[in-house]
Amino acid sequence: MSTASTATSPDYARFAIGFDERDRPRLHQLIDEVLDSGRWSEGPMVKRFEHAWAAHNSVPAVALSSWAGGALAALQFAQVEGATVLCPSNTFMATPLAALNAGARVQFVDCNREDLCMSFKDFEAKAAKYKPKAAFLVHIGGHIAFETEQIAAYCEQAGIFLIEDCAHAHGAAWHGRRPGTYGDAGVYSLYATKTITTGEGGVLVSTRPEVIEYARAFRNYGKTTYDVAGLNFRMSDLTAALALVQVERLPEIVTWKNAVARTELDPAYPSRLELPDGMTSGLYKYIVFDWLDRSTGRVYDEPCHRILDHQVNLPNTDWVARNHSCVPLYYRPQGQAS
Ligand SMILES: Cc1ncc(COP(=O)(O)O)c(C=O)c1O
Repeated sequence: MSTASTATSPDYARFAIGFDERDRPRLHQLIDEVLDSGRWSEGPMVKRFEHAWAAHNSVPAVALSSWAGGALAALQFAQVEGATVLCPSNTFMATPLAALNAGARVQFVDCNREDLCMSFKDFEAKAAKYKPKAAFLVHIGGHIAFETEQIAAYCEQAGIFLIEDCAHAHGAAWHGRRPGTYGDAGVYSLYATKTITTGEGGVLVSTRPEVIEYARAFRNYGKTTYDVAGLNFRMSDLTAALALVQVERLPEIVTWKNAVARTELDPAYPSRLELPDGMTSGLYKYIVFDWLDRSTGRVYDEPCHRILDHQVNLPNTDWVARNHSCVPLYYRPQGQAS
């Protein structure tokens, strides 16, 4: 990465889409390629994007029109209808709603105060109590959940299908390992506020070829055998052109955000969330355990178990909702217009 792109900009505190203006000419050229190809859907640009994502993520990938499409594909593969799915409460409502829409019952799990992500201790207790068929692990804020390895190992031995909600986790790594490679499937969102975005979009990744094959059928009405009761969650090739330039730029965006965090934010925020050794956060959010006026708000203000009125005691989840803030940190390399 060039020194010019690590240079900090005073504008990082103002919201910006995670798009690098230097990618505009290449994006136009790729869009022209799609226009000329006459393949605006199910074409080669989607495949190019999937290969690029797979190379970045070190795991096969399926492009989708939303995170929701990937989550539903994974849940349906796991056959959760009528069964229990464990889910952290400190997440966006998309996570439990996907399970509910797949016909499952949801039971909520507490988080840790240190990483805002699902607690292994409470997960173990709830798994023993509810015998879930599947579970969500949400990598909140841009880092990998600190107890991912324990949770994944537990799920593997107990036969619980583990879905990593990677909606925040673009560009994260732990000793070089990427989100979405620990469980049975990982699902990213490319919604407009995410670290990289196509406005709308999603990606499912999985180390299991049968899950990848299922998701490909699921996003396309089960074509061609119709064994899979899917719907339309296809990404168009025009969107894939944008997705391709975005994933190619992702490592630089993450490096830039981390450089700004280390030089500008860390000295000012001693109460920040601390990462374990060997972990890189994609810094979707810069989280501090403080109540700041100048904040992009909380990751989540109201936990899902309260929104859905579940009578369950999740003390860390309630504590996190009251005791953290997010310091604004948006990708805007020097000289980039706002
Ligand atoms: C944790 C989490 N899961 C799921 C989603 C849903 O993503 P999408 O809007 O692409 O369906 C989001 C984001 O918007 C999210 O933050």
